[in-house]
Amino acid sequence: MSYSLSHREFTMLQKYIEEQSGIILGEEKAYFIESRLAKILENYSLSSYEELYYKAYSKKDASFSKQVIDAITTNETYWFRDKSPWYIMEDLLLPVYIKEMQAGQRADVRIWSSACSSGQEPYSIAMCIDNYLRINGIQNIGLERFHIAATDLSESMLKLAIKGKYDSVSMERGLDTVTVDRYFVKNGNQWLIDEKIKKAVSFQQINLKRDHYYFDNCDIIFCRYVLMYFSEILKEVILPKVINALKPQGVLFTGASEIMKDSTKCLEMETYKDGVYFRLKG
Ligand SMILES: C[S@@+](CC[C@H](N)C(=O)[O-])C[C@H]1O[C@@H](n2cnc3c(N)ncnc32)[C@H](O)[C@@H]1O
Repeated sequence: MSYSLSHREFTMLQKYIEEQSGIILGEEKAYFIESRLAKILENYSLSSYEELYYKAYSKKDASFSKQVIDAITTNETYWFRDKSPWYIMEDLLLPVYIKEMQAGQRADVRIWSSACSSGQEPYSIAMCIDNYLRINGIQNIGLERFHIAATDLSESMLKLAIKGKYDSVSMERGLDTVTVDRYFVKNGNQWLIDEKIKKAVSFQQINLKRDHYYFDNCDIIFCRYVLMYFSEILKEVILPKVINALKPQGVLFTGASEIMKDSTKCLEMETYKDGVYFRLKG
């Protein structure tokens, strides 16, 4: 059966999605909403997008409302996305943290991947650290001293991330063969991530727009390719909350294309090679 989305239904759903997730969908995205939600209409034998809207809006079935928002999220991600965060970690951040830990000046390192999608970002962080420790022959500090929290709005993406199982298409995006051999085991047509890497990351559902974030004292926050889905007004609300989770001198990575207006003026933009990152003043 094929359903079509009227302009009125588009407007209702557009508003609902923005309220729930912050994700802005312009009129040119009507087809996107129609196609992403068609499967839900079919699965629940609903007769129209209006019926779907009221079912989601009523919140009588919380899992249904979550499915609607989940279906709208764009979860594009890949391993070691963008080059700069990884060489900034290896050249600038990890040497300092490790030296401080070895000198007994710090207990651990706290890292938050705040829109982690299917896990490639936080697992890349864990692999980057593990590899750094190995290459530099550091034996008195282990990966367990690095606490990596990963959160996302999408329940289905978090389920995939927690499994740590990837298909051949995702494996071809951003991994070299040495890293695959070191950190993955092939099982049929899936690749399982190494247990040590998996154990280094803890996952949780957090909606950056609506939930309270309890994170604090983070040394590094990855907030990449998510702010771009929000309105300028919402970015101005979310960004201070994210920044608030950083410790003084903590570092924020955003996506390469995400121009950030820091109205709080508490971040210093720093550059290294061709990469840019932000450091909390103080
Ligand atoms: C394009 S992916 C980026 C993933 C990863 N950060 C990267 O750079 O590869 C955007 C992610 O943001 C999540 N997202 C969208 N709105 C969100 C919100 N309000 N709170 C938390 N996550 C959200 C989506 O579910 C999606 O997984």
